[in-house]
Amino acid sequence: MEGGSKTRASHFSRRNFITASASAAAAPWMFPRYATAEKSETAPMGEEPQAKVPTSLTVNKQPHRLALDPRTSLLDALRDEIGLTGTKKGCDHGQCGACTVLVNGMRVLSCMSFAVMNDGRDVTTIEGLESPSGELHPMQQAFIDHDAFQCGYCTSGQIMSAIGCVNEGHADSDADIREYMSGNLCRCAAYPNIVAAIRQARDATRKA
Ligand code: FES
Ligand code: FES
Repeated sequence: MEGGSKTRASHFSRRNFITASASAAAAPWMFPRYATAEKSETAPMGEEPQAKVPTSLTVNKQPHRLALDPRTSLLDALRDEIGLTGTKKGCDHGQCGACTVLVNGMRVLSCMSFAVMNDGRDVTTIEGLESPSGELHPMQQAFIDHDAFQCGYCTSGQIMSAIGCVNEGHADSDADIREYMSGNLCRCAAYPNIVAAIRQARDATRKA
């Protein structure tokens, strides 16, 4: 994803797992995964049940103690176990950015990170951006002000990534914004509006 380093550490293990699995002889078990994905979203790899692993996540400042199949992605844990569906599943393969969340303040592709890897960490999703008094985060407001979406499917990932982009110091110019947001795809092509929104919100986001 954008900037290379921001998500690499956190999703590397699942990517390795997928790569190793894909290169295993014939790997016929990979295909049933797709046939059964809707029935078993929280046990995405392989067919055999695995012993549940206790996992503690702090999500939007709320503690959650979960018992998870170790193959559960952070994305599936957020959506299916905790019920926070604002984080979207686009490709489920680390290619679209729709699932971006912040983990300890850094951008992470939640589809590419096992939930158990995030034990003890602080996760922020789109649902956690609003202030306690109900005020939108400056980046959320800027996306509205600039019509930086059409269908909205990519938008929560765009907003989370935009906050990470600003906080990493990669939003000083439009060229930087385009480069460091390049891992977040928008099929509606709202890119110019997204850049404008980030430009508007960057100072307020640094202070937020
Ligand atoms: S759903 Fe995670 S990158 Fe596409
Ligand atoms: S607003 Fe539709 S995919 Fe981005």
